[in-house]
Amino acid sequence: MFALQPNLSDGEANVERVTTDTVSSESPDRLRADMVAQLKDRGSIRSPEVANAFAKVPRERFAPEAPSLEAAYSVFDVVVTKRNADGKATSSVSAPWLQAEMLEAARLTRGDRTLEVGSGGYNAALISEIVGPEGLVVSVDIDPFVTERAARFLAETGYPHVKVVLGDAEHAADEHGPFNAIIVTVGVWDCPWGHLLAPGGRMVVPLRFAGLTRSITFVRDGDRFVGLEPTVCGFVPAQGAGAHQEQVAALDGGAVTLTIDTGPALDIAALDQALTGDRSEVWTGVTVNGGEAFDTLGLWMTTVDDTFGLIWRDPDRANDLVNPALRWFCPALVTPDTFAYLTLREVHRDKETGKGRYEFGIYGHGRRRAELAQQFLAHVQTWDRDWRQCPGPDFTLYPADAVVPAPAIGRVFRKRHSQLVMVWPD
Ligand SMILES: C[S@@+](CC[C@H](N)C(=O)[O-])C[C@H]1O[C@@H](n2cnc3c(N)ncnc32)[C@H](O)[C@@H]1O
Repeated sequence: MFALQPNLSDGEANVERVTTDTVSSESPDRLRADMVAQLKDRGSIRSPEVANAFAKVPRERFAPEAPSLEAAYSVFDVVVTKRNADGKATSSVSAPWLQAEMLEAARLTRGDRTLEVGSGGYNAALISEIVGPEGLVVSVDIDPFVTERAARFLAETGYPHVKVVLGDAEHAADEHGPFNAIIVTVGVWDCPWGHLLAPGGRMVVPLRFAGLTRSITFVRDGDRFVGLEPTVCGFVPAQGAGAHQEQVAALDGGAVTLTIDTGPALDIAALDQALTGDRSEVWTGVTVNGGEAFDTLGLWMTTVDDTFGLIWRDPDRANDLVNPALRWFCPALVTPDTFAYLTLREVHRDKETGKGRYEFGIYGHGRRRAELAQQFLAHVQTWDRDWRQCPGPDFTLYPADAVVPAPAIGRVFRKRHSQLVMVWPD
């Protein structure tokens, strides 16, 4: 599993950050070299091929919207390049740490035929550096604004041979396959590209299931795809045929949001009332160090509870109605009129290191708040006892029509084109 994990110190998971820097005094070459050094230091760059690509491609030329050169080269920051009418990002240049992790996971070699789903130009140029002129890079995007500028930036920076294709990636790449590697750079709920992958090829996919997203590297083995290195990440969601609608309850005018993938329709008015009503509180006795990963808790909860969902608080809207353990992707149980979520309280602070230790708690709101909080408590305690020390479940992807083995402990997520099988080790 990759290095970045939910971090209690700032409560922010591995989501690409949007930068707000404004001034630059550094040269792009110097900033590029610093970025490569940082990516190597944190283990996101592990091979000379990926290092050389990052050292060569001028990232700032693909991110003119970045408020400064420093912002364009910030290892953790995403540069948003397009927003929809609601102000939500629909296209961006992804953060360097995530691009490096995905390129390393794809294990690209010279001459590879590669598909990038979701364009922008920068990542395609990095791929092109690695696969060389004897390789093929096809980059597909659904938005003509994105493909026009990607093709222009690529031509201007010396990568005119990258094939930029306008279309819905659901089918638009079919005529260009097979590929040795497929890198999906948009959040997808399903994976319709398995048939385009050559035997032994690798497909890196930020796949959404039960509201969670993990970037998983799938290696083709016949008709199944063995999943490796699930990594917590966040991407703009796919549009077009592959778009997936979750249930979303925006409470208190959008200050607090609950999401759940499926289940009975949420009663927004009842949940809104629940938010401001009485709260139940349970403390679990389960503790965690600041900065310690606990992302397998959500995976465990999706295995055993169909009411698993997520909560977050709008950081720009001060309110003390909720206090989730994580800023993003904080586990919750969500029913039509009741919800319960994970919170934390500090139980110890080391005087020398300044590091804290925290206890998990559950807050419940709504008619069945005490019951739902107890249900959540049982999940935290089972996870702590049985699963916390294990690296997490294994993932395998199958075509939608395959007969898949029923996992002893696990879950099958059925999608339109594929089935994701999650299995906890015996
Ligand atoms: C995060 S951006 C891609 C980043 C880019 N690869 C880079 O160089 O950093 C995601 C892109 O996916 C595109 N997209 C969304 N749904 C799509 C679909 N169904 N088919 C193709 N592209 C899609 C969006 O228009 C957006 O430009």
